[in-house]
Amino acid sequence: MRVLVTGGTGYIGSHTVLCLLEAGHQVVVLDNLVNSSQESLVRVRELTGKPVSFHHVDLLDEPAVDGVFGAYEADGGIDAVIHFAGLKAVGESVHQPLRYYHNNVTGTINLLRVMDARGVRTLVFSSSATVYGDRNPTPYIEKMDIGANNPYGRTKEQIEDILSDVGAADSRWHIALLRYFNPVGAHPSGRIGEDPMGIPNNLVPFIAQVAVGRREKLMVFGGDYDTPDGTALRDYIHVMDLSEGHVAAVDHVAKREGVFRWNLGSGIGSSVFDVLHAFERAVGHPLPYEVAARRAGDLPAFWADPSSALADLGWSTTKTLDEMCEDHWRWQKNNPAGYAPAE
Ligand code: WQD
Repeated sequence: MRVLVTGGTGYIGSHTVLCLLEAGHQVVVLDNLVNSSQESLVRVRELTGKPVSFHHVDLLDEPAVDGVFGAYEADGGIDAVIHFAGLKAVGESVHQPLRYYHNNVTGTINLLRVMDARGVRTLVFSSSATVYGDRNPTPYIEKMDIGANNPYGRTKEQIEDILSDVGAADSRWHIALLRYFNPVGAHPSGRIGEDPMGIPNNLVPFIAQVAVGRREKLMVFGGDYDTPDGTALRDYIHVMDLSEGHVAAVDHVAKREGVFRWNLGSGIGSSVFDVLHAFERAVGHPLPYEVAARRAGDLPAFWADPSSALADLGWSTTKTLDEMCEDHWRWQKNNPAGYAPAE
């Protein structure tokens, strides 16, 4: 299939582009580069030896989005879309809700309008475990009621609702909603990886920047949770496993009408200290940290029940926390400034 990947120059997007190419699909990338670099695609082309088309387009520019679809009409058109493009910083979304709703929700509606007009109705959507909110027991199960507790999460929840309504109104749609947990790691080559702009919000990229000397020490947000070591538990998943989950999902829904939901997680809860010590094993020496106050909005513990993805897609995680940290470290060590040119 020819698959359009929105947000395909980003962290999960670029790894998914690589996995799609290696699975034999043709890939077209649409990205506005607000939070990523085209360099990731240059390296994906190097790693796979395969071409990837790129369009510097913003989903808020609906005519330009339509132009991308039109560019391939004469050559069989776009067969499916994997939709990553969106703003994703929880803290930022609290301060800039209108920007997040406009960018994420309006952008998605524009994409769906163009898809429908062009007769392209196979979509995999990048959702998030954050939609489960703070009301559900762990492990999270797809059939649970959702209710995010921050604007970013609510954009994901609203897009899930929009897609559910679209699928209910028109049975020609084939839709997968993928709720992922905590993506970490990098392609084993160390050539592509996570390159957050500014101070990393997330745990592993922050630890990686401490290890490479860009940050002084890790602040552990809370050491007094009711967990085995007092630090919060999360379900970390290797970005390569996550990307393979997207390939499995798009192949699956391409053949089936309807709206499907799958958790993409390991089903294992790991603590902040578990992650820190796994990263220290990868680096080969202790890393500086300080236990600080809990971060507002954080939950003590959550992880996935991943059984539906295994049953339906034949997909499950394969990589350990140590492999996640080894691969993340190899990327960061080889690219201390991310995709920015070495000084
Ligand atoms: C993990 C744990 C922190 C940084 C978020 C989004 C979620 C998804 C994944 C997009 C927590 C602790 C973190 C640090 C720390 N993103 N931590 N020091 O909050 O589980 O999920 O990213 O979909 O939507 O909510 O991930 O990596 O920020 O935090 O102690 O410097 O690490 O308190 O317990 P989180 P995270």
